Amino acid sequence: MQRTFNETEPQQILNYLNSSDIKYLVELFKNSSKKINSNILSHISIKGTDYADQLVERLKKDFGDFTLRSATIWEATEPHNIHNNDRLETGNPHLGFVFPLYHEGGVDTDAKLIFLRQYYYNGAAKFYGGETEERDVYYNQLITDYKDVKYKENGMWSTTNKSFKEKYLPQIKDRWLEGLSLHTAFPWAVGSMMKFDVCRLHVASDFRKAGIKRKIGMALFTEKP
Ligand SMILES: [Fe+2]
Repeated sequence: MQRTFNETEPQQILNYLNSSDIKYLVELFKNSSKKINSNILSHISIKGTDYADQLVERLKKDFGDFTLRSATIWEATEPHNIHNNDRLETGNPHLGFVFPLYHEGGVDTDAKLIFLRQYYYNGAAKFYGGETEERDVYYNQLITDYKDVKYKENGMWSTTNKSFKEKYLPQIKDRWLEGLSLHTAFPWAVGSMMKFDVCRLHVASDFRKAGIKRKIGMALFTEKP
């Protein structure tokens, strides 16, 4: 069956969560036993909880109907490299919603979630253009050749996006970015909500460079029936 896709503008709404929600979610994460994804990432699932069910209803009012695929609270001690948030299974990928809940140290405007102009429609993937060595990509596909990446643009990070790259993406090698370009960068504003198409490529800024030791966020990923 042919999958369907959507292409919408990334959006951030500040103060989508109130301070008691934020406190509740951070405490819930701290007091729960975590699933370890990798040496830099752990998470708990909140799918099926009353909190997630209520949030889903609110998001459907704001963004239209969807099926919830996953709902997690996670902690990262290093930034995520370039990836999409699709699945490997069939299903129609739809929207992702990321909610910054906490950062240890630093200032949240110095940490960004960076959305690129490009899309990848062939399943969950991490993007390491030009690499020849195997890397741990866990659930994802390792993409080193961007032939199937949509809307490529060449030369952007050595020209238009050069100073942005130096400031926010020093951890990302030039060759991983070749063919890709900057769309939007949102600050890791606690209480905000960032909406994006799950197939859109995105990457976290090097928050460690901004003095942030770790970040806790909530993420809901959705499909269309
Ligand atoms: Fe992501």
